[in-house]
Amino acid sequence: MQEIYEAIKRSAIRIREAIEFDDTGYSENINSTGDTQLKLDIKSDLIIEEEFAKVASIKEIVSEEKADKTPLHVNGIYGVGYDPLDGSSLIDVNLSVGSIFGIYEGGYAGKHLKAAVYVVYGPRVELVIAEVDVKMYRLNKRGEFVFIKVIQLGEKGKLNAPGSTQMCWEPKHKALIDAIFADGYRLRYSGGMVPDLHQILLKGGGLFSYPATSDLPKGKLRMIFEVFPFAFVYEKAGGAAIDGKGRVLDLTPSHPHDTTPCFFGSTTEIERVRKCYE
Ligand code: F6P
Ligand code: MG
Repeated sequence: MQEIYEAIKRSAIRIREAIEFDDTGYSENINSTGDTQLKLDIKSDLIIEEEFAKVASIKEIVSEEKADKTPLHVNGIYGVGYDPLDGSSLIDVNLSVGSIFGIYEGGYAGKHLKAAVYVVYGPRVELVIAEVDVKMYRLNKRGEFVFIKVIQLGEKGKLNAPGSTQMCWEPKHKALIDAIFADGYRLRYSGGMVPDLHQILLKGGGLFSYPATSDLPKGKLRMIFEVFPFAFVYEKAGGAAIDGKGRVLDLTPSHPHDTTPCFFGSTTEIERVRKCYE
């Protein structure tokens, strides 16, 4: 596992440089979800593939930017699912973005996840690794990731990050979000799931939701590259992640790009979601 983390660190340093200095324009390609790829999406994907190709324990990779799985090493053990540059459309307005990784063994269901990692490219570069617990590191001047702290969620937070648009929400979802705001929660939503979920983790708790909507009945966020890795992080940090009813980590996608409604938060907020949706 350690050599996978080292490859992610090398990728993060290279992606950070591309974000800072490369062209932020669109390419001519469209990915499997129908998004037009930025040149930076493609470059980040290639950087990660190159770094993972050096790691013998990785059997195959599956990326948000690729239609299918890519085999790497026949004798490898792990499958890595990743979103190379989540929230990339926020780069042209200079907001934070991220990379997300799920390290799987034996398939790409939530139950096969062994570790999850994400990187936030913000004013500073931070790396979070969840295996037994959740550890945060920060990139220093010498290009090293220095351990900062173990992240632990409180039982109840103060932030609310509601995804999609109100006109597409079900009435019960709107009632839930309104009630949470009425209880004094602050709105914190940038439109990048990595910084939005990172903020909730570091500020002690709250709720991030991306529900089933009228335009996207199965939600927007992808299980293998986005939802499972963050569900793993939230559970290991003492919080929870559900699809409305059950744990998202109990789900099994039938296609690499399958999506699910999802709610991440501290236990109090997730219990509230469960009661609303049950
Ligand atoms: O990858 C999808 C994504 O960009 C996430 O980073 C983000 O949380 C979400 O979409 C935002 O979607 P919306 O603008 O519909 O709330
Ligand atoms: Mg994404």
